Amino acid sequence: MCGIVGYIGKRESRGIVLDGLSSLEYRGYDSAGIALIEGGDGTLIKQVGQVKGLIKKVNKTKPKGNLAIGHTRWATHGAPSILNAHPHTNKDETIYVVHNGIIENYTEIKTKLISKGYVFISDTDTEVIPHLIDYYWKNLGDFDKAFYKALKDLTGAYAIAAISTHAKNTIYAARLSSPLVIGVGTDEYILASDPTAIMPHTKKVIFLEDYDVAKISKNNCYIHNLKKTKEGIQEPELLDYDNNVVLLGDYPNFMLKEINEAPATIKTATTGRVLSSQNLIKLGGLENVEQQLKYIDRIVIVACGTSYYAGLVGEYLIEEIAGIPVEVQLASEFKYRDEPFSRSTAIIAISQSGETADTIAALKKVESYGVLRLGVVNAVGSTIARMTDAGVYCHAGPEQAVASTKAFIAQVTVLNLIALLLSNGRTKQFKPLLMELEALPEKAKTVLESAEAIKKVALKYKDYKDFLFIGRHIAYPVALEGALKLKEISYIHAEGYAAGEMKHGPLAMIDDKFPTFAIATSNHLLEKTYSNIEEIKARKGPVLAIANNSNKDINKLVDDVLYIPETLEQTKPILEAIVMQLFAYYIAEAKGYNVDRPRNLAKSVTVE
Ligand code: F6R
Repeated sequence: MCGIVGYIGKRESRGIVLDGLSSLEYRGYDSAGIALIEGGDGTLIKQVGQVKGLIKKVNKTKPKGNLAIGHTRWATHGAPSILNAHPHTNKDETIYVVHNGIIENYTEIKTKLISKGYVFISDTDTEVIPHLIDYYWKNLGDFDKAFYKALKDLTGAYAIAAISTHAKNTIYAARLSSPLVIGVGTDEYILASDPTAIMPHTKKVIFLEDYDVAKISKNNCYIHNLKKTKEGIQEPELLDYDNNVVLLGDYPNFMLKEINEAPATIKTATTGRVLSSQNLIKLGGLENVEQQLKYIDRIVIVACGTSYYAGLVGEYLIEEIAGIPVEVQLASEFKYRDEPFSRSTAIIAISQSGETADTIAALKKVESYGVLRLGVVNAVGSTIARMTDAGVYCHAGPEQAVASTKAFIAQVTVLNLIALLLSNGRTKQFKPLLMELEALPEKAKTVLESAEAIKKVALKYKDYKDFLFIGRHIAYPVALEGALKLKEISYIHAEGYAAGEMKHGPLAMIDDKFPTFAIATSNHLLEKTYSNIEEIKARKGPVLAIANNSNKDINKLVDDVLYIPETLEQTKPILEAIVMQLFAYYIAEAKGYNVDRPRNLAKSVTVE
């Protein structure tokens, strides 16, 4: 949530920081700002709205400087406004600060500073930071010491970047529970809250750890940890990525691009891992915990949002393929629960960003329990990837649209792999599922080729105000995910339900204005789903269904059908999800909404 970019080096910083902010805009887009230092003077420019508004404003004066920090905001404390936008500064405008996270004790600090004559002009928690640094600077006359002293007073979560006319050749950065990455170039450094902003410049990166404080000059990056003995220059690691993944190419937006990446996503998640000719599943990320995995008799999956729904799919997969009991919990609930745990339990945290605050907190909660902590994470090098004992990367590449699409596809694919690995080959589904996973990219392509048919149906249903999504068994979480996709980008009220629950309440809502999206792909429960559809039709509810190619009978039962190729029960959620993603996409597009940046939301929820 919120994006930070900083630059120091030989190049003009303005364009680099603004481009970086544009690429991080999915993390927040209420307002944006930039501060630059040139010679001994600082320039601060802020604007409400998207980064393009800021770019326009900056381009009027084209301020110069080889040192700058910028921010794109998702409002937590205080409405989107110029005063609340970052960077924040002190009265003399000599210190500029951008911040992600929440300063929990800001009221206390603010009261103390007000008593010393400081005046606050914003509603944000962040504004205390430049004033606090200013206070210590005036008392100590040393900017390094002032920055450190200020940090020590802060409690909460933060990724902070600060620049000052008192230290005009340095960017100061600090991290606690909110990500910060430093890109290492030749005589230049790019600082960002997410590697996406760094990718166009360098593959060499340093991920800051909690309590790290970095002092970055043009040709030196000195890192000191406030809690550990770590101090000095740190060797960068190499990020392996294809730069094209962060570019739109011919697509009108990232959501459509990312939905269309489904076949490649499945392929990348399975390549080198699914070896059907050898009847083998190979997950390098779990090799170091191979022995421990043998003793696992309970798995708790923790995640939020779409990742949580992928986890629910995983519950069916792991229980039915590997025979291990699984429980899936919302990370935001899990972290406050007091439940008994045995050491033979494994936690699996699922997260696209690897930075979701609740999921991190869930993992932290079990830190001292001695349980195995595994990750199914997309963002390489992210906090969750680093804090787990082992894990399997999704390798879906950066996901930039706020609504998660390809990450869900990758997560369900990876959960299939984990289920297969945990089964130790003891299931008769082993070989068929390995083969199906290899065939799946082509089938996902077929679903994408039916985009026009999906669009036609979407346009027919776009003006309804409510929607119900139903499914049974492994399709139930897919129905939940379908409802989430529709509501978050088209703002249509949508609920996901287990089809078997209809008579227990939701049926009361059904009339000719309340359509249902039924997942009716063939399985042992299809007849039961048909009964639910009949009950809805009897109450005049319009029904649109997803069915298998072979199931032409369903035509007589429902108003519209969207077909997917035949596949195994375990891989159906992947193909069904693509249909639902496109359905939500075309409705939102027809309504003229910004599909990549839905209102009130931001990618990567790094605050509670
Ligand atoms: C929905 C969506 C969110 C995320 C959730 C978890 O489309 O994107 O619900 O799935 O915020 O995020 P990660 O997976 O990054 O932990």
